[in-house]
This record gives sequence, structure tokens and C-alpha cells, in this order.
Amino acid sequence: MSLPSRPRPVALITGASAGIGAALARVYAEKGWDLILTARREAPLQALAEELARTGAASTILTGDLADPAAPRRLFDAIRTRGLTVDGLVNNAGFSRTDGFLNTDPAAHKAMIQVMLAAPVELARLFTPGMVERGFGRILNVASLAGQMPATGGDTLYGPIKSFLIKASQGLHLELRGTGVHVTALCPGYTLTEFHDANGTREQVSSAYPAWMWQTADHVARVGYEACEANRPKVTPGVMNNLLAGLAKHLPDRVALGMVGGHAKRLKRI
Ligand SMILES: NC(=O)c1ccc[n+]([C@@H]2O[C@H](COP(=O)([O-])OP(=O)(O)OC[C@H]3O[C@@H](n4cnc5c(N)ncnc54)[C@H](OP(=O)(O)O)[C@@H]3O)[C@@H](O)[C@H]2O)c1
Repeated sequence: MSLPSRPRPVALITGASAGIGAALARVYAEKGWDLILTARREAPLQALAEELARTGAASTILTGDLADPAAPRRLFDAIRTRGLTVDGLVNNAGFSRTDGFLNTDPAAHKAMIQVMLAAPVELARLFTPGMVERGFGRILNVASLAGQMPATGGDTLYGPIKSFLIKASQGLHLELRGTGVHVTALCPGYTLTEFHDANGTREQVSSAYPAWMWQTADHVARVGYEACEANRPKVTPGVMNNLLAGLAKHLPDRVALGMVGGHAKRLKRI
């Protein structure tokens, strides 16, 4: 990559305490970046920062709950107060609820929208002007294969939120062409992280999906990093995931919804 004039660029990674976010932090550190790591849990961020320090990367830890609408601004101000510059923004924090729309607490719906949709938009709006001014920036939005698939029941809002993030990334990618700021939506399929423990579906998905459908967080992170460096607007790791995304594009809605609905029923989500 062509680096900015400072010796080590700095990437802010949300949801860095586990899974894909932690894997991305390792890849960015390996590629010569320093890190600003954020999530709610401090202990795993501290452990990760210590691990990264051994590779020569400096990490700043800023804990916070992105479900709080004031969090993105607070993060921006805390970074500015510390005199840090953000060259790379990785909007990765996320979670899902699979109990059905009517069984899910409205507060959890609000949190999903805030963490995975509103916060990425606000963080991009806050940090992009500085990137454009400096002529260098990277924005990697961790969306999902679910954002490219037909609507699902049970985790009703998750796919639409990720579809939004993909489209918003593609729009910003177009807008920022030629500025030195790259924007990419990363769309992983099933990935081995804490995600399915957090939503209580580990057993269900492990028996429903064979081992070959699962990717490691490290693989997903590497594909995402390289795609953003190459300024690809969207990347989906894995041949099978690309086949599924392609198929979803071409099936008539009625057929696609029928297939996905049947699958959600087998998983007892609807
Ligand atoms: N795993 C998959 O199969 C898969 C597939 C496609 C897309 N994705 C996407 O990949 C991203 C990362 O997920 P993952 O699989 O790595 O899951 P994970 O292992 O559960 O990690 C989720 C991360 O998000 C953070 N987070 C969750 N809620 C937060 C909040 N309210 N405020 C701040 N941080 C919060 C968590 O940190 P704390 O708990 O410490 O706050 C954690 O660091 C998500 O956007 C997810 O939608 C995952």
C-alpha cells in the first residue's frame, strides 16, 4: 500500500474484542498499522493490545457501547483529545437476534440498528473528511453474505441492516473515487467466532451447516484487508458464498423466499 507520510498509519476497529474484529486487528498490525481498539469488554482488548505490541504495533483502547447513540461522537472526541489521526476505519461491531421480530425486545432492535447501521454511518461521516483532506484513507465495513441473500424470518432485521451497509459502502466508494480513500463492504458467510454463542444458536447452526461452510476469522480478515487495499467496493470471501450470492440475485423472489422460509422453519426460527 502507499502509506501516508506518518511512519505508521492508524486504524480504528470496532468490535475488536473478539472474532473478525480481533482477526482484522492482527492483520492490520502485521501490515504495519497501529490500532485503536474499541468494544464493551476491556479485558480481551487489553490482551489483544499486549499480543499486538509484541509485533511492534501500538494500540489505544477505548471501551464503549455502540448501542448508545452518543458513542460515535464520544469516540471521535476521545481520539482527537489524544492527538491521534484515524487513517483506517473498520466498522465491524455487530450481533444478531434470532428469536423472531415479535419475541425480540424493542430495545434489542434499536441496539441492532444503532450498532450496525447508525454507528457505521456516523463514524464514517466523522472520520472521512480528515481522510479526504490528507489524501489517504481506508473504510472497511463488515457487512454479511446475509445482506446479499433473500429476506429471512426469525432474524428479520439482520439481513436488511447488512444490505443497507453494503449499498451505503458502494455509494461512498463511488463518491470517494480519486480521493485516496478506499471503501469496501466485506460480506462474510458463516465464520467461526463468538457470534453464534452471543445469539445462542451455536448448537443449531453447527448441526445445520457442515464444517466446509465455515470460514476462519483470520481468512475473512485477510480477504477484507486485501480487498480494501485494492479498493474493491464489495468482497465476499469463499467460492461457495459467491455462488450463493450469485444464485440469490437470479432467482425469482417467490422461489427465493420459499427456499429461505423453508430453511428458517427447519432451524425453528419461524
Ligand atoms: N460470524 C459470522 O458468521 C458472521 C458472518 C457474517 C457477518 N458477520 C459480521 O461480522 C462482524 C463481527 O462479528 P463476529 O462474527 O466477529 O462476532 P463476535 O465474535 O461475536 O464479535 C462481535 C464484536 O462486536 C462487539 N460488539 C457487539 N455489540 C457491541 C456494542 N453494543 N458496542 C460495541 N461493540 C459491540 C463485540 O464486543 P463486546 O461484546 O466486547 O462489546 C465483539 O467484539 C459483525 O458485524 C457480524 O454481523 C459475522
